[in-house]
Amino acid sequence: MNNFIDIKDLNLNQITNIFDVSAKLKKDRKGFSNGNKDPNQLLLNRVVALLFKKPSTRTRFSFEVGIFQMGGKSISVSSNELQISNLETMSDTASVLTKYLDMIVLRTENHSDLNDLIKYSDIPIINGLSDQSHPCQVLSDIFTYEEISGSIEDKKVVWLGDANNVCNSYIQASDKFNFELIICGPLEFIPRDNGVQNFQYEVDPKKALKNADLIVTDTWYSMHQTEKEREIRKKKMQNYTLTEKLLKISNKESLVFHCMPIYRNNEIMSDIADKFFDIFLKQAENRLHVQKGIMHWCFS
Ligand code: CP
Ligand code: NVA
Repeated sequence: MNNFIDIKDLNLNQITNIFDVSAKLKKDRKGFSNGNKDPNQLLLNRVVALLFKKPSTRTRFSFEVGIFQMGGKSISVSSNELQISNLETMSDTASVLTKYLDMIVLRTENHSDLNDLIKYSDIPIINGLSDQSHPCQVLSDIFTYEEISGSIEDKKVVWLGDANNVCNSYIQASDKFNFELIICGPLEFIPRDNGVQNFQYEVDPKKALKNADLIVTDTWYSMHQTEKEREIRKKKMQNYTLTEKLLKISNKESLVFHCMPIYRNNEIMSDIADKFFDIFLKQAENRLHVQKGIMHWCFS
């Protein structure tokens, strides 16, 4: 049994196994409708809860549909339907849920909730986004990059904008996959103590984007941030919108990634978002396949 909390917790061999299973499950579904079950029911007789302390579109649907296709049963609840909204602790909640369930996926604004779930339950726990990381998204992103452009090793990846939870998972991924990572944003938001300091930073986007193979951006305002933090970011991020002019500095063949939701004309100009929208959809679709690989690995 394994927990899936952060990319740094896995070795490359384990990630490669997850990708192999994801690719096979994806291939085996060619020609199926979304409601068809997989030939190989890898979650048969498993009940999985999806707990959301924050809104979600992609994570919720991709996990629910993935669990269904794998022959399992999902139960999705938002925190305001649970007694944690009446101040029951996450540790008591975890102790109880472990008696009913086989696995929990949690989206939370407080990464320590994941540690509570691990400590007080004995079933696999998956991080469906926290204030600190979004490993499901970033593994799906790497899978998507490699599907389109081949190995990401030694490629130049530029993170543009707020060095947020998704960016943290990119930092961890660069350590595992050996790609060059440049974080480009206002200096004060560049992470200082991440545990893995294997990235460079550059405040000038014109310098950072030179010869980039992959440009990744995300909303300037993450769900756990306060109004005040959002206001500060709005002022400081104005030079970090991905525009046509900036895009031209990167490699001709460079890809642009956005995990969505997109805030057009903030982190990315609307025309650039339209140009790369099919790629964003590939990222979103691969959440389904890669999370199936992750869930299978959690029970191995
Ligand atoms: N990218 C992502 O995690 O989207 P949701 O917030 O809609 O789940
Ligand atoms: N980084 C953003 C978007 C993640 C899907 C957030 O945490 O709200």
